[in-house]
Amino acid sequence: MSTIDRDISGVTRDRGEGNLERIRIQSDLASAEIYLHGAHVTHFQPRDSAHPVLWMSKSSVFKSDKPIRGGIPICFPWFGPKADDPKAPAHGFARTRDWTLESVQHGESGAILIAFNIKSDEATKRLWDADFAAHYLVSVGSELSVHLSVQNLGLNLIRFEEALHSYFVVGNAQQTEVRGLDGASYLDRLRPAATFKQDDQPIRFAAETDRTYINTDAMTTIIDPVLDRRITNRKVNSNSTVVWNPWIAKAKAMADFGDDEWPGMVCIETANAGPNAVELPAGQQHSMSAVISVENG
Ligand code: BG6
Repeated sequence: MSTIDRDISGVTRDRGEGNLERIRIQSDLASAEIYLHGAHVTHFQPRDSAHPVLWMSKSSVFKSDKPIRGGIPICFPWFGPKADDPKAPAHGFARTRDWTLESVQHGESGAILIAFNIKSDEATKRLWDADFAAHYLVSVGSELSVHLSVQNLGLNLIRFEEALHSYFVVGNAQQTEVRGLDGASYLDRLRPAATFKQDDQPIRFAAETDRTYINTDAMTTIIDPVLDRRITNRKVNSNSTVVWNPWIAKAKAMADFGDDEWPGMVCIETANAGPNAVELPAGQQHSMSAVISVENG
């Protein structure tokens, strides 16, 4: 295990599951882990929190050509299946690329900032014809903040979708509520070709749930009476929020998701997807962030 920078104590670079490269943070404020594969945050736990915030499947695969199941996969440049190519990898290629570690620095209020990037190349252009650079900044403090920015380096306008696909630990999904999306419109992958409206009640989980709330930048709060905590997700420049729990049959159908794990997680994803896809003119940059915090008791 080697220290990344003598000045940044508590940050180490090692090889984790599947021998993939990983950054580990053990600070006074929190512990965290990030794989360079996908720039994938797989762990975050503030010091005063009794449980991890991010959920990881025990069945996750850690291989260079497969996405990690849990944590925060980065979905880019499309969300779900690619509209014009159903054979292209689901949720884009960012989550299966090895990102370059750019820097590790001290941030404000004791946070540690870890920056990663990827750039378009022949392989990305075979899947998506665009010249781009993407930067990802992870700030590990008493809160976790993740910031994805995309630069259009080409001569034409580019159109893309993006999601910070956060998996959260909950005591029991069936007793969990998600607040903040009252009145928002949503698309439902289980009932396509229609738009629905969330009523004034919190979202509760009683079956497979796979919704993309659109035209909303609202903060969401996960109310977890079992672990006796609230997790909030604040968003910047994100107009979609995806809410997902696979429930029984879909969990069984996924090879990298344990059959009995679905009650322990919910996904609340900071996104720009579907009608909120980003159109970025040549030479411009677009950024989207999520700030995740926990309140116990
Ligand atoms: C969610 C989608 O964001 O991700 C679901 O809304 C999908 O439809 C889920 O099943 C997991 O996707 P994947 O590609 O990681 O299995």
